[in-house]
Amino acid sequence: MERIVLAYSGGLGTSVAIPWLPEKYNAEIVAVTMDLGQGKELDDVRERALAIGAVRSDVFVLRGEFARDFILPALQAGAFYEGRYPLATALGRPLISKHLVEIARIEGASAIAHGCTGKGNDQVRMDVSARALEPSIKVIAPARVWGLTRPEEIEYARRRGIPVPATVDSPYSTDSNLWGRSIECGVLEDPWQEPPEEIYLLTKSPAESPDRPAYVEIEFERGVPVKINGVAMSLVELIQSLETIAGAHGIGRVDMVENRLVGIKSREIYEAPAAVGLHAAHRELQKFVTPRDLERLTAELGVKYADLVYNGLWYTPTREAIDALVK
Ligand code: ARG
Repeated sequence: MERIVLAYSGGLGTSVAIPWLPEKYNAEIVAVTMDLGQGKELDDVRERALAIGAVRSDVFVLRGEFARDFILPALQAGAFYEGRYPLATALGRPLISKHLVEIARIEGASAIAHGCTGKGNDQVRMDVSARALEPSIKVIAPARVWGLTRPEEIEYARRRGIPVPATVDSPYSTDSNLWGRSIECGVLEDPWQEPPEEIYLLTKSPAESPDRPAYVEIEFERGVPVKINGVAMSLVELIQSLETIAGAHGIGRVDMVENRLVGIKSREIYEAPAAVGLHAAHRELQKFVTPRDLERLTAELGVKYADLVYNGLWYTPTREAIDALVK
């Protein structure tokens, strides 16, 4: 029998994929959940995947790798897409694809599957990354093939006795990891609408943030942030603690209309307190040490780098070359 490795988030879309994939492709499902610091409760996710019919399931904690190999180079390159989006979601995709491909090799699976729809950038990033690493791998996106609407997914889940996650009531599509949160859809699609305060989880509104400032001193060693206010910590811990302090002071909200790779304009909200704070610190630090022409060049390369990351071109010689120069 064929075997498919599914990137299982625990949400509705990938939950209904667990029984659907075997029926459609006569395959068994290995469900893997990657912890990139989404902060969601992943405790029972493995049991849930098994209960719905996965033959095996596991959770992989990838926060350290994400911080070291993906976030850090993007920080050092000064990568903001269209000047504003620090690329949290976009940076996570190549890492997820890499592990899906590795697990597919170990499992002798012929295909990997993910929950991305046909409308966004994420499907492109997942597909392109996986095939860059393993050209023979088949990539299945059930949401794209199957084309169920949200209510149809819920109906299917109910018929199959699949517990419907409480988050399905949310009108928003969100994604989060260590580097920040992306929020889209619902009323946000109309750029005239001010985002309702309820969408924000990591940042306080200016009205609710403290009147007194917090002082944050970030120490870098060879371009790597290593200490906050004199306390040494791992990059993961440093990002998490900066997220708490900066978020409490209303830092890191981004509200923008962006050009998607798939050719549409889309209103997107991000909250990325740690990313915005660390980029600001790194940029200021560079001012002290980078000669003028090199500063201009790195600024241009930062724009290029952001486009590469956004467009799913992580596993390319161009990205590696910019990394080498920036280092
Ligand atoms: N527009 C952003 C990007 O392309 C956010 C994507 C958010 N993904 C999601 N599944 N809600 O990186």
